[in-house]
Amino acid sequence: MTAASCIVLKPYKKEKVKKKNFDFGKRLQDLREKNLERRLREFKPSVGMKAEVEGKEILNFSSNDYLGLSRDFSVIEKAIEATKEYGTSCSASRLISGNNPLFHALERSLARWKGKEKALIFPSGFMAALASIPSLVGTSDLVLMDSLCHASLWEGARLSRATLRVFAHNEVEDLKKLLERYALKYERILVVTESLFSMDGDMAPLRELVELKERFEAYLLLDDAHGEGLLGEGGGGLATALGLAEKVDVILGTFSKALGSQGGYIAASQEVIEWMINTAKSFIFTTALSPSCMAAATSALDIVRSERGDLLRRKLRENICYFFEGISTSTFYYSPIIPVKIGSEEKAVRVSADLEKKGIYLPPIRYPTVPKGEARLRISLTALHDFDQIAYLKNALEKYLHC
Ligand SMILES: Cc1ncc(COP(=O)(O)O)c(C=O)c1O
Repeated sequence: MTAASCIVLKPYKKEKVKKKNFDFGKRLQDLREKNLERRLREFKPSVGMKAEVEGKEILNFSSNDYLGLSRDFSVIEKAIEATKEYGTSCSASRLISGNNPLFHALERSLARWKGKEKALIFPSGFMAALASIPSLVGTSDLVLMDSLCHASLWEGARLSRATLRVFAHNEVEDLKKLLERYALKYERILVVTESLFSMDGDMAPLRELVELKERFEAYLLLDDAHGEGLLGEGGGGLATALGLAEKVDVILGTFSKALGSQGGYIAASQEVIEWMINTAKSFIFTTALSPSCMAAATSALDIVRSERGDLLRRKLRENICYFFEGISTSTFYYSPIIPVKIGSEEKAVRVSADLEKKGIYLPPIRYPTVPKGEARLRISLTALHDFDQIAYLKNALEKYLHC
């Protein structure tokens, strides 16, 4: 008999076990009553931006595949070739035996694209955030985060156990006040923001943020998930567009938006990347990204940086301009993300369902993705939409666009 099988469990004393509220049925009902329940629906892509949702044909305005590259024939071919050559999985973490040759080439291209020394690939952008923030800061440090940052950045900051303070969305003055208050109290301060904000489509005031972080000797992490592929020369992203790539310490990106694939990465100095390889838990303890995703991202990146990428960006810009024709707006960004703010969760669910009856797919975006009472429809335009489809959308949404 082994030692393990000899362990005798003491009978637990019933009266000492606290009764916990595991009543998930009731908790789900609560979500339903607040119009916050989420439900998985089968979604089958067909041609261009058309798809079938539960068997009904719809026009999709909710995709992050801004340049349409997930359906590109050459990208698909590369994914198939890589699968044939290397199999469907890397079958181990990168530090064990998963460090497939595709990583090195893609990381070199990513680093060049983002204007940084090195890049490091993770299985997703979410995991890149979970890995990088705790690797950069810890218990005795401070994270200053834009209030509208993506959930992955919040989770990364919480995991780091650094003190977390929030600055009002894109409010440089607010960030400055926090830096003034805390600069002498913390040895390391990490400022975290996004380039194109995922649910609002507006842009970070990156120049001012860089000035502040330099003045207060803080570190700056920029999540460029929605800016890359679209902004700057070769689609290099917001820091590239403003000539600030060298000054932004850490750039987070993902293959899951304009690169039409899956996977995430960090671009930074060689030292930062080496530090992450040695300390980032969701890098060390996870199976390497699959060959097909890497090959797809490599091929998509080649397109994004080429003349064809310029043509796709031009088409997307034309689509954005076409959408805004006749609509007055206080600030205009060349952003494919256009929030139509509805307010109440109940109304957002209702408007979304009405649009779906007209063949337009725009799922309601609700808490906790956005703050309570700020539910919205998040339109995302792509280079694959055509003017007729956009006109149809505008027509269906008319009363919400002009209120
Ligand atoms: C701003 C932002 N950062 C990070 C992520 C995570 O990227 P991924 O889809 O690769 O996990 C997303 C995706 O939703 C995002 O919108």
